[in-house]
Amino acid sequence: MGREMASAFARWCALADLEVKPELVAVADLNPTTLAWFDQIPSCRQQVSDYAELLANPAVDVVYVAVPHILHEKIYLDVLDAGKDLFAEKPFGIDLGAARRIAAAAESSGQFVRCSSEMPFFPGGQRALAAARSNKLGRILEVVSGFHHSSDLDAEKPANWKRHSKTCGEIGVLGDLGMHACHLPLRLGWKPTKLYAQLSKGYPDRPDGKGGRSVCDTWDNALLNTWTTIAGDEVPLRLEMKRLAPGATNSWFIEILGTDGGVRFTTAEPKTLWSFSRDREQWWSRTELGFSTPFKTVTGGIFEPGFPDVIQQMWAAFLVEREGNLGDRFGCATPAEAVASHEIFDAALTSHLNQSVQCI
Ligand SMILES: NC(=O)c1ccc[n+]([C@@H]2O[C@H](COP(=O)([O-])OP(=O)(O)OC[C@H]3O[C@@H](n4cnc5c(N)ncnc54)[C@H](O)[C@@H]3O)[C@@H](O)[C@H]2O)c1
Repeated sequence: MGREMASAFARWCALADLEVKPELVAVADLNPTTLAWFDQIPSCRQQVSDYAELLANPAVDVVYVAVPHILHEKIYLDVLDAGKDLFAEKPFGIDLGAARRIAAAAESSGQFVRCSSEMPFFPGGQRALAAARSNKLGRILEVVSGFHHSSDLDAEKPANWKRHSKTCGEIGVLGDLGMHACHLPLRLGWKPTKLYAQLSKGYPDRPDGKGGRSVCDTWDNALLNTWTTIAGDEVPLRLEMKRLAPGATNSWFIEILGTDGGVRFTTAEPKTLWSFSRDREQWWSRTELGFSTPFKTVTGGIFEPGFPDVIQQMWAAFLVEREGNLGDRFGCATPAEAVASHEIFDAALTSHLNQSVQCI
């Protein structure tokens, strides 16, 4: 993900009328091959294996941290201690306790802190948000928000740190994909009040990449049947996070259904927005979306957006908000939203264990 972010800065000229311009000046990674990749970025003058050296660099204002989840809390706190602003990867710590400690440190440090979640920056995500805020959907009947991929279907794919609870966290797939699924519902104020969780695991072991086998113990799929309150009504909100979703490569989706209108978007069809309306008859109409991202770009409005575009949009939001100039544009996930997502994940673990409805 570090290289993905670096490439977003490298084509910053794609953004129009933006008052901030990031410069990648330093990188830390334990892997020399990964570090060497940054040779091709002339501004990246510091390449170190010990991130403490990067934190001591006065030219560094903001640190983006993309490391195994077990390291999140320690490195995030070190970044804040060094007086740097933090763009944290999800999950915001390995568990709820860590999330709360990081949020408290962020608050007391006064540093600008946000958590990565880029998918709502797709034009379709923004249109779903606008539809939900329009008050034109009538009484909301049901909401589904989720993230599916299928990278665990191949039983012979070697295990990495994401397949072990020790390094990925007890929350497993919830930590990997949960912030993505929770971001828009939380931004809309639709925090679940209670939930029933169904969690399932994938293959119990995989090749370890060294000729042996490695035990895999993380939750791969999570279905959270939750209840939230919308305009005084209790509404079912389903959060779906799957590493084992046949056919899905990396699909984020949201569906909001009301009595008078509805909206459905998936990144599997990034140009397509489905909108429900009714009169005497009912329609699902398809809008072909263009490049209407929150931050203006040089890309023509008819073209289609993709993952690198929303990563860049997310960075624009982070940097513009850090300058205090976000206005009414969509901002990155806040520490409060990240902690709220962890409250949901924590309740899900208890619910699954006890097979009970869990209040949040
Ligand atoms: N926002 C997204 O869409 C998205 C997508 C994938 C991953 N992620 C998140 O990004 C983070 C990293 O995931 P990834 O897929 O890039 O993992 P990865 O395993 O590909 O990369 C992790 C990197 O961290 C380095 N590292 C490990 N320990 C280190 C240390 N002590 N100091 C410096 N570097 C160290 C490793 O050498 C490696 O290059 C995770 O939090 C993950 O959830 C986010």
